[in-house]
Amino acid sequence: MNYRHGYHAGNFADVLKHLALCELLRLLTAKDKKLFVLDTHAGTGGYDLAGTLAGRTGEAAAGIARLIATPPAGRPAAVARYLAAVAVYDRKFGPSGGGLRHYPGSPRLVRAALRPGDRFIACELHAEDALALRREFAGDRAIEVRQEDGYKVLKAMLPPVERRGFVLIDPPFEATDEFERLARAVRQGLRRFATGCYAVWYPIKDEAAAAAFIATLGAPRRLVMELRIPGEAGTTKLTACGLAVINPPWRFEEAMAEALPWIASVLDGRARLVVPPASAPAPASPA
Ligand SMILES: C[S@@+](CC[C@H](N)C(=O)[O-])C[C@H]1O[C@@H](n2cnc3c(N)ncnc32)[C@H](O)[C@@H]1O
Repeated sequence: MNYRHGYHAGNFADVLKHLALCELLRLLTAKDKKLFVLDTHAGTGGYDLAGTLAGRTGEAAAGIARLIATPPAGRPAAVARYLAAVAVYDRKFGPSGGGLRHYPGSPRLVRAALRPGDRFIACELHAEDALALRREFAGDRAIEVRQEDGYKVLKAMLPPVERRGFVLIDPPFEATDEFERLARAVRQGLRRFATGCYAVWYPIKDEAAAAAFIATLGAPRRLVMELRIPGEAGTTKLTACGLAVINPPWRFEEAMAEALPWIASVLDGRARLVVPPASAPAPASPA
């Protein structure tokens, strides 16, 4: 396991995923019923953008830093809420001397949205990152950090006793069969917990492979968001990614339809939101 999310914190892919994450949690916690949240691939929880990892790549400059530089008045509501959540996290560390210094990872964004009584499990397999995640939430009993395989925990924890749940699956895509593992996890999740909301991140390095993955998801209610940014000449850095959301809450599509084109224009990129027609048949889903 070589992947360290610290190198990519706050980049365009985090922007897409975390914008959606904040909005999903806002909508899912609007109902007065307990929610179970599982973050299968959690990372360390928070990132120092000037630290050794993020500071080396500077990927946040073409991501979150661009959003923060926009005039607040023109921001779509979902973007404004996401940036507010980022600012709340950054402020915990005190004045940073200008600009954003500390960026929240998915567990921090989830934690900020939870209410008393909600339940949250965050899995991180990398020993060092799992330790950092534990430290990030030391003393916080609202989150259970597990140094375990998130795919196995997904299988074990669904359906949740709360009967309302959200699962974020955000793997590093180091393994060559990650698309297959991801599709299998979604199928297993849906079989155990068909009404759960799932958000699944994927890179787009090969358009055909990404499209084939989406085609296998087999969920009748889903939407897919994709973001592409211009590549830097001479690098092999990721320039496109997607987030598939299964069983999205009411009004999520509307919020993303407003936010995505704005994000794309600020990042000089292109975005698309794909919602299959309600009558589209679900593809066959092997076990
Ligand atoms: C893309 S990063 C997660 C970023 C995080 N979700 C966020 O948005 O801030 C993927 C993480 O999954 C961890 N990981 C890899 N395989 C895993 C597995 N099978 N179960 C749990 N964590 C895993 C990696 O060490 C890495 O920290």
